[in-house]
Amino acid sequence: MSHSKPKRIILDTDPGIDDALAILLALASPEVQLEAVTVTSGNCPMDQGVINALSVLELAGAGHVPVAAGVPVPLIQPLLIAAETHGTTGLGYAKLPPPQQRPTDQHAVDLLIERIMAAPGEITLVAVAPLTNIAMAIRREPRIIQAVHEVIIMGGALLFQGNTTPVAEFNTYVDPHAAYMVYHSGMPMTLVPLDVTYQCIFRQADVDRLLKIDSPITRFIADSTKFYMEFHDEYQDIEGCVINDPVALALAFMPDLVETRRLHITVDIHSEVSLGNTIGDFYKAWQKPPNMQAALKVQPRRFLDLFVERMEQLALHQN
Ligand code: BDR
Ligand code: CA
Repeated sequence: MSHSKPKRIILDTDPGIDDALAILLALASPEVQLEAVTVTSGNCPMDQGVINALSVLELAGAGHVPVAAGVPVPLIQPLLIAAETHGTTGLGYAKLPPPQQRPTDQHAVDLLIERIMAAPGEITLVAVAPLTNIAMAIRREPRIIQAVHEVIIMGGALLFQGNTTPVAEFNTYVDPHAAYMVYHSGMPMTLVPLDVTYQCIFRQADVDRLLKIDSPITRFIADSTKFYMEFHDEYQDIEGCVINDPVALALAFMPDLVETRRLHITVDIHSEVSLGNTIGDFYKAWQKPPNMQAALKVQPRRFLDLFVERMEQLALHQN
């Protein structure tokens, strides 16, 4: 049996119910080592997101993982948050104790740059929020483009409808200009759009299975996703909830969960009606080289089984 070194990851996030689940999946997965969590605004305002990140880490006994606050507003657009999707605190009906730890004094953008430059080729960045922090980091220290191992981005909707406007996905819509900068930066990137995440629906049966283990972690997952499921039922007629961000996290250690295609992908930053639309040039009409690979097919059951099993292990480990 081979024991390769865990992949070193930094999670850039706006926690957020599915962001919290991505944090838990990272902590439950021995294939990765969560080195830091960087936060921006999105699902909730950044200050609240920082508290949520710290509380979720502490829930899983990982209060040692540094959390850094980043850029609190999008580059150009006014801030849009998603209280109807994630609740006013960002974590649905879940109530976690206030965190014991504090965020780092270091700004998230500086932390990203320092960690990536200190270990060229080693850090995988999993970005599951508006790309504001990443865009700022690129501008401030462009050498991270070569130094980062890989960037896995949850965002966009290619051949799938948007979840925020008819054509735009939330993370891309909140900061389309940051997304544009990152997409055209030249970093090695994998995009995880709604095309695949909307196949990964976490249902009440999964919650019931988890609740067979009585623990703060399983109760947190049940309470937070209850709100998220109500949102999906009311606004999207979906039974269950789409857990986007853990799909991106899982790809850091299980890339064959998805089928990818190399494409030239851009973001509409000009038009009002389709602002934040992510456009993939499937037929090479623009004759531009691919700038990333995009996940277009996923094995949903395999992902959901992985997710539920890992949450069970985390909960049992804690009890
Ligand atoms: C993305 O937007 C947020 O609501 C989720 O946390 C996820 O990162 C899905 O569009
Ligand atoms: Ca998110």
